[in-house]
Amino acid sequence: MTDSMHAISDDARVVVDEVLDYARRRALYEDIPLDKPLTPRDLSRLASGSISARGIGARRATALWENVLAPACVTTDHPAYLSFIPSAPTKAAIAFDLVVSASAIYGGSWKEGSGAVFAENEVLHWLAAEFGLPAGAGGVFMQGGTIGNLSALVTARDAARRRNRELGRPDPARWIVVCSAEAHSSIASAAAVMDVDVVTAAPGADGRLRGDAVTAALEAHEGAVFAVVATGGTTNFGIVDDIASVAAATKAKDIWLHVDGAYGLAAMLVERMRPAFAGVELADSLIVDPHKWLFAPFDACALIYREPALALAAHTQKAEYLDTLTDTADWNPSDLGIQLTRRARGLPLWFSLATYGTDEYRAAIEYGIDLARAAADEIEARPGLSLVREPQLSVVVFRRDGWTLADYQAWSDRLLEDQQGFVVPSSHAGEPVLRFAIISPLTTIDTLTGILDTLG
Ligand SMILES: Cc1ncc(COP(=O)(O)O)c(C=O)c1O
Repeated sequence: MTDSMHAISDDARVVVDEVLDYARRRALYEDIPLDKPLTPRDLSRLASGSISARGIGARRATALWENVLAPACVTTDHPAYLSFIPSAPTKAAIAFDLVVSASAIYGGSWKEGSGAVFAENEVLHWLAAEFGLPAGAGGVFMQGGTIGNLSALVTARDAARRRNRELGRPDPARWIVVCSAEAHSSIASAAAVMDVDVVTAAPGADGRLRGDAVTAALEAHEGAVFAVVATGGTTNFGIVDDIASVAAATKAKDIWLHVDGAYGLAAMLVERMRPAFAGVELADSLIVDPHKWLFAPFDACALIYREPALALAAHTQKAEYLDTLTDTADWNPSDLGIQLTRRARGLPLWFSLATYGTDEYRAAIEYGIDLARAAADEIEARPGLSLVREPQLSVVVFRRDGWTLADYQAWSDRLLEDQQGFVVPSSHAGEPVLRFAIISPLTTIDTLTGILDTLG
């Protein structure tokens, strides 16, 4: 029977039930363990041999996953996972992610996925309005911030090349993107892929990039800069650049402004935080990652353009078999970034927003900002601990007096081994530091003080 993997049969029902039962258990698990990595050697011993000519069956495969492989994956939405940028998908978003798979939705073209594309666009237009972009703004959910930044910068360079052609100006020998020294590593990565140069403009002592530094860079490299990147919440500290003055500098020279808000731009949904992001409304493109602070599962980046037509011009793939899609005025998400086939990865966020309403989102984000403040006060009050910087969003960076990187690492390893928390060391200006990145509304001040207590 060659169709046994696809046909609806009693066997198929057993397989689907097996997997959905596990997914249900996992999604509704209370007191979920933090878990930890195993060594390749241990995993080889415990879990190899699952790929065979005849298969091991859904029951055994699920058991292998549940009992051996899943516990070897750190739970990124655990309340005590405070490293990198954690995840904290809502129950509605997690559940709907299963629907996206079950429905075999194609999210690349309007013709094939209009309902899904419409729902994704509802979210993108809501976000664009929150960020103050004009009504014509639009975009696409990409895989993640790295690909979102790359796609935006490719559009920016394409627009600069077209402008040069229109004006009869030559392109520079080397194109340049300007960003802060504190910008995310994905900007340098995008530049490497695009074979363009990065010029870093020095941020102020407070870590914020300002317009004067950008103007200096633009004047030093007149005619070569195709985009400036401002960061709406740096990863290490949660610092928001002075986007208004950066925007003024780019507008004065007619240069593309991209705002990388992968982590932090979600904070703009909180009314009192909006002034910190003034100038975002002037962006030519921006990103914010739902899998970070918008409580969606991995992986999704909302990439939004002020003028989506410029992205279409840069990204639409041309092929005879695609003409039927691309030679129309349809809104085809594939054509706005670096991809062709695409999962409708914005749908879990759409479903969750539709389920709970935007107020819940605003409150959950504000909770993280307030908790970071409370954690900072707690750190300041403890002898031997000090803040490296006052938190602006939901990242708290601090030091334990006298500790070396090796001390931090040994403490971090022990914390995970004891299943109390996942807090890895970072560094700033050559100094090893600790960092709480708070995303989950289930993280409490007790979670954090419990961890601080272990710092002795
Ligand atoms: C500011 C910023 N930009 C870009 C990225 C890259 O996003 P992703 O990991 O989704 O590729 C991150 C990731 O943490 C980030 O914090």
